Parts: sequence; C-alpha cells; structure tokens
Amino acid sequence: MAEKVAVVTGSNKGIGFGTVRELCKRGIGYVYLTARDLQRGKEAVEKLKKEGYKPFFHQLDVTDELSVKKFAEHLKQEHGGLDILINNAAVGVASYVDVTYEDSVRVLDANYYSILNTQKYMFPILKNNARVINISSDCGHISNLRNTYWINRLTKEDIKQEDVDAFVDWFLNSVKNGTLNKDDFEEPFVIPYKISKIAVCALTRAQQREVGRGISVNSLHPGFVKTDMTKSGGDLTIDQASDAPVYLALDIDQSVKGKLFWFDKTEKDWADANQKLHPRAKDFTS
Ligand SMILES: NC(=O)c1ccc[n+]([C@@H]2O[C@H](COP(=O)([O-])OP(=O)(O)OC[C@H]3O[C@@H](n4cnc5c(N)ncnc54)[C@H](OP(=O)(O)O)[C@@H]3O)[C@@H](O)[C@H]2O)c1
Repeated sequence: MAEKVAVVTGSNKGIGFGTVRELCKRGIGYVYLTARDLQRGKEAVEKLKKEGYKPFFHQLDVTDELSVKKFAEHLKQEHGGLDILINNAAVGVASYVDVTYEDSVRVLDANYYSILNTQKYMFPILKNNARVINISSDCGHISNLRNTYWINRLTKEDIKQEDVDAFVDWFLNSVKNGTLNKDDFEEPFVIPYKISKIAVCALTRAQQREVGRGISVNSLHPGFVKTDMTKSGGDLTIDQASDAPVYLALDIDQSVKGKLFWFDKTEKDWADANQKLHPRAKDFTS
C-alpha cells in the first residue's frame, strides 16, 4: 500500500481536497494534491501539512493539454506511473436556466474534454490494476435525458468514445445554431452541466471497454455537498463526501468495472432511464 501513487484533480478545495486528506489518512505513499493555480494549491498543501499529513503537490490545469502532459511526464519519471486517478476537477454553470454557447464551451472544456486530456496522457502510464474514478453527478444519470436517440446510442453495450464526442458535439451545435430543445431534458436546468456529466458517465463505460490490463474505471455521484460549487448548500460535508471516492479507490473489489456509484456506496444502473435518478429543479439550489 505504502508505495501507491494517487492523483486527485482539482483538489485545492472542495471534495477533491477532502479526498486527498482521506487518502493521506489511509496511508497511501504518494498522494498528489493538484491545482491549476500554484498559490491556491500550495496553500491547500500547507493546510494539510499543519494537520500532520504529507501530500505532494503538482500544478495541473486539466483543460491545458501541456499542463497534463508535463504532470504525466513527472509521474512517469518519479514513480514509473500511477495507481489511482480521481478525475474530480469541474466547474458549474453561469446560469441555472439560460444556456449560452460561451458558457457551454467553458463547462464542457472543464468537465468533459479535460477527462479526454487525462485519458490521453495518464492512461498510458496507469499501472496494471490501477483504478480510475470519474466524479460525475446525479445530473449525469441517463434519466436526465428524454431524447430517445441519445438514450439509445449512449446506453448501448459497445459504446465508444466517438459516440460520446458526437453527443457533446450535437449539444454544442444545437446551442450555437439556436436549435436546443429543452424538451430533450427531464428537467431543463443547468443543461450544459448535465450534458457534461452524462458524457462523463458514458465515457466511463467506453474507457472501461478499451483500457485493459486489469484497470477499473468507475463513475461516482458524490452527493449534494457543501462546497463553493453549491454555494455551501448541500447535505454532506467534504469529509463525508470523501468517503465514497476513497472507497472506490481503495476498498471495493477490483472486479467492479465500468459502473456508476452513489455517495452512499450503492451501485446504480446508469443505463436505466426509467430509474428517475435525476435531480429535481425544486431540490437544486446552485
Ligand atoms: N458539490 C456538490 O454537491 C456536487 C454534486 C455532484 C457532483 N459534484 C462534482 O464533484 C466534483 C468536485 O466538486 P466540488 O463541489 O468540490 O467543487 P468546487 O469546490 O468548486 O471545487 C472544484 C475544484 O475543481 C478545480 N478546477 C476547476 N477547473 C479546473 C481546471 N481547469 N483544472 C484544474 N482544476 C480545476 C477548482 O479549482 P479552482 O479553485 O482553481 O477553481 C477546485 O479545486 C466536481 O466534479 C463536481 O461536478 C459536486
């Protein structure tokens, strides 16, 4: 256990920060707290050091391919690769109901294309039997969608990344050319965020199909958590919310692959649109 290398993206605050702390507590040898901003990252590391933990730090902007590449090179050089990758970094939408092209691109860059960046540079250096956890949301369950073409295409057993890319392209084009149909969604709020998190869950399944070498890739809805993203609304503290990512990273059986989990560690059927696991507008405060 001691020599394992774990990386949490976007971990200078929020759920990522709590997850780093929990991984340190569990005695993982090299836990990387990463942040796009050096100052914010270093302050977060200092905070944990004062609590007696010893995380490592590296700059990482997941939307910047060069930054991801440099970090992957560092991991390869220092440790020969990594054992645990938690794709946690993400942003929320600018408006609860209004959908603009600029904001949609910003959200998709941070929440979906970023995961293609870590896939490109970090998957090749994942050690055998490594674990990848993609932090999604209840906004990412397929039941958020009503559009039957995309439900069918995204939930097919042999899904590929190109299907997910096509879904994201379809959405961005519809916003650009003014054809976005809010009836395609069960509850039409935070739509760019929902698209990004549905894409993360779908990509998880595509990644699992491709990755091999005993590696597991699962996605997680971390719960409604008191962080900056929710303007400190929510049911869970970051300490409580870090339990499930660490469970997937360390405790669950290695044979569990390509699944969606909830914050209470229960597995959910992502592909069952009838389960109605989407959030309700009335419960959503951010
Ligand atoms: N909180 C909830 O209720 C909730 C519910 C469902 C899902 N989630 C998911 O849980 C994850 C963590 O959310 P949170 O609530 O902890 O949010 P948060 O407090 O806003 O933290 C987000 C983190 O991501 C970082 N980040 C954003 N863009 C980045 C980039 N391009 N490169 C690197 N880091 C970047 C932020 O860094 P800066 O400080 O530099 O901005 C910050 O450290 C996200 O994937 C979110 O979608 C949260």
